[in-house]
Formats: sequence, structure tokens, C-alpha cells
Amino acid sequence: MSGLASPEAGIVAEALAGLTAPRKSLPPKLFYDEAGCALFGAITRLAEYYPTRTERALLTRVAAALGAWVEPGAALVEYGASDEEKAELLFGALESAAYVPIDIAAPALAALAARMRRRHPAIAVHPLAADFLAPVRLPAAIAGLQRLGFFPGSTIGNLDHDEAVAFLARARTALGPGSPLLIGVDLEKSLDILIPAYDDAEGVTAAFNLNILTRLNREAEADFDPALFRHRAVWNDRFRRIEMHLESRVPQSVRLAGLRIDFAAGETIHTENSYKFSEARFAALAAQAGWIVAESWTDPDRLFSVQLLVSRS
Ligand code: AVJ
Repeated sequence: MSGLASPEAGIVAEALAGLTAPRKSLPPKLFYDEAGCALFGAITRLAEYYPTRTERALLTRVAAALGAWVEPGAALVEYGASDEEKAELLFGALESAAYVPIDIAAPALAALAARMRRRHPAIAVHPLAADFLAPVRLPAAIAGLQRLGFFPGSTIGNLDHDEAVAFLARARTALGPGSPLLIGVDLEKSLDILIPAYDDAEGVTAAFNLNILTRLNREAEADFDPALFRHRAVWNDRFRRIEMHLESRVPQSVRLAGLRIDFAAGETIHTENSYKFSEARFAALAAQAGWIVAESWTDPDRLFSVQLLVSRS
């Protein structure tokens, strides 16, 4: 990767924009360098982190029902595909001939493509190293095929309302008429379950959050001491979201790309939102982007949902 099209381009600009604002923030996509991808993988295996295993169990049920909506041989277009483990649950039922994984983490994407060629040689893989929040052009090779959009993991929960509507509307246009979108949506639940999922006993989520500072030290000429920040996960009741923050333990100054950034003790960098939805609120959000919820699957404890969206017209 090189030049302006590189997903790494602009990390300094993005970090500076967030850290010089009155309320400091960093975009969650910066979590996913190689160490961050590995830490996220470790999060998905934590006892406290229910989304991944719950969604996987749902997807095996969903796969059996997809035939009603998708033609055999449809191309699977996955937004935020750090690995193929969830897509693999769908390939059989879809009889997929093509797979388009889209992800910001270029190294993870290259490893994914190599594994796919080994394990699913009959499926043509067209990886796209891109920020799926920006408009993406689907490869010409899948032009003639129906597509199934796939956006698992409740990554939609990282987006504010307007960003989520914009993403869903853009995906609808990119996928084209008659191509549905299968999306994982995390549901509202008791804080006794929610908080530990984002603040686990082993501190893996804390390490994931703090790793963003290590990355800025390496890639944005910064000199953060991660030991001087603490991981925080809090529920924002008004906005129905978990927020992750990095809280400065002391008053301190940090340098980033030649600029000085001051922190008061207790001041935080807001690193992530993870919105939680009721089925009704998610349906209203999807409708604003021209989608209708055709089917929704959930587990018996109603922790998580997988929803199939079809285009309104
Ligand atoms: C990848 C955005 C779905 O919000 O649950 C996990 C990321 N952050 N633990 C989420 C995450 C902290 C995750 N998503």
C-alpha cells in the first residue's frame, strides 16, 4: 500500500483533529493495527464478550433460511472483514462463487485472501483494502451477479446515527437493486452483562483500548506513556451506547507530530461508541436508508440479532 489511496494515509491528520478538539477523541478504526487485530481476536474469545459467539450460533440458523432471499451463486460482499470465519458459515448455503472482503486492515486482509485460496479454491476472492465508511466501488468481476451484503459483528454500533444512515444508504446503492444486506445488530440489555463485555476481568479490552496510544507513538510521532492512562467503559443512557475512553491519570503533556497536547487529570480521550438497539429502533434507522427488515433472528436470551434487510423499492 502506498500513496493517497492507502488506508494508513492521514493517521496523523485524523489523530490531530481528534486530539485538538475541545473534547478529545480518536476514531475507532485506529484500533486495528496488527497488534490491535490480535487483541480484538482475543476479546471475541472472552467469556464476558457475548456478541461473537452469539452471532456465530445465529448465523448457522440464518444460513439455512437465506435460500428464500438469495439466488445460488450470489457474491458475498463483507464490510469490515478482518477474517472469513463468519462468511464461512454462509458460503455453503449461498453456493458462493465470489467473495469481496472489505477492510481497513490491509495485512489482515492479505492473510484472509491467502487462507481463502487454500481452503476455498472454488470461490473467487476480490479483497478491497478500504475504509468502508468512504464510498467503495465493487469490483467489475462481480458485476453480473446478485450480491448479498454482509455487515456482521454489530460494527454498525460504532457509527453515530447520521453515519449509520449514510453507510446503510451507500451500501444499498453499491449493492444494487435486488441485493439484500445481512447485518449483525447488538441489542440493549442489562448493564450487568454489558459493562463486563467492555471491561473484562483479564484486562484484554483495556489492552485493546490502550494499544491505540502505542500505535500513535509508532506511526504518528507521538510519545504517549500508556501507563499514565486508564481504560474506561461507561454506559451513556441518553444515547443508548457503551463508550470507551482513555482517562489521563495525571496532568500531563504529550507530543504528537511536533504538537503539544495537554491533559488535565481525569480528562479522557473518547475512543469508541458501541450503540445498542431495540429491534424497533434499528428498523426505524434502516428505514431512513431505504431498507426494510425482512427477517430478524435472535437468541433465546435476546442478546444479539442478525437481520436481513431488503431494499424498499
Ligand atoms: C467490532 C465494533 C463490534 O463494539 O463490540 C469490542 C469492538 N470494542 N470491545 C464492539 C469492541 C471493545 C466491537 N465492534
